Amino acid sequence: MPKAKLVIENLTVRYGEFVAVNKLSFQVKEGEILGMLGPNGAGKSTTIKAILGLVSFEGRIEIAGEDVSSVEVRRKIGYMPQSFSLYQNLTVEENMRFFASIYGVEKSEMSRRMDELLRIAELERWKDKLVKNLSGGMKQRLMLACSMIHDPEMLILDEPTAGVDPPLRRAFWEHFRDLNKEGKTILVTTHYMDEAENCHRLIVMRNGAKMAEGNADEIKRRALGGELILIDSIKKQEALRILKSFGFNSEVVEDKIAVLVENSAKTLPSVVEILRKHNLPVTYAETKKLTLEDAFLKFIGGENG
Ligand SMILES: Nc1ncnc2c1ncn2[C@@H]1O[C@H](COP(=O)(O)OP(=O)(O)O)[C@@H](O)[C@H]1O
Ligand SMILES: [Mg+2]
Repeated sequence: MPKAKLVIENLTVRYGEFVAVNKLSFQVKEGEILGMLGPNGAGKSTTIKAILGLVSFEGRIEIAGEDVSSVEVRRKIGYMPQSFSLYQNLTVEENMRFFASIYGVEKSEMSRRMDELLRIAELERWKDKLVKNLSGGMKQRLMLACSMIHDPEMLILDEPTAGVDPPLRRAFWEHFRDLNKEGKTILVTTHYMDEAENCHRLIVMRNGAKMAEGNADEIKRRALGGELILIDSIKKQEALRILKSFGFNSEVVEDKIAVLVENSAKTLPSVVEILRKHNLPVTYAETKKLTLEDAFLKFIGGENG
């Protein structure tokens, strides 16, 4: 079992009377990419603000085994905020220098780190440009570079690809996966389902609480209570009766028989075999998985679309 890099236990955050995060517990394991999914207002950014010490909270937050209230511990985190946080009238290099100084990066380290990150973010050619003259994608890459200037162990990315067009989103995710392979633990929020599939594990949040947790397949399975096998046979009603007599949770859905099972790929052969033995050859068979979007809508109550 990998160690936990971030432990959140019973986190509650209030804005006055309003409870934005409600007794939330989860862990991010060392070396993993954990995605937080949830509609607007679910409490994702607030959770991140608690980790960063920007709001007061009840509960416990630990990073690499240490209480998060110490400033030293927070140096282990690189944070890319949801809203824009660069200085428009400074150049690319000046922005990086500024973030390096607030994170306390040693002078001797600074140039080496900056060169490396400019290369990774593909901003070498633009390092003397004012930020206000950069494209949206370049600004986003610069924000990521600035959040990593102090070589943090863990990256916290709050909707890092919001408003970024699809080709660049893909490039960003390739980059996140590379960073992860190099050893960075990543906590990332998103509401793009295709991005969520890149995460090792997910938590689904709604109204400040955790609705589901697991990898994408587990979350899909949990939303439905299993996986589906769709089959057809020459005598549908007869086949349905047989399957039910064998204890299968099945019904006719549209023009197929849907069988709800724990693992569709594993169970399909035995379903086919049972029907064959009863002289009901299967004329069609498909294992069907929910999309992550289906599952997500189920957990958040469909109110987001
Ligand atoms: N500074 C604040 N004061 C009062 N309410 C806030 C504040 N920040 C966020 N909220 C409320 O807390 C809830 C959670 O917000 P947030 O954490 O930003 O959600 P998310 O990032 O998942 O969209 C929302 O209902 C939001 O309106
Ligand atoms: Mg947010």
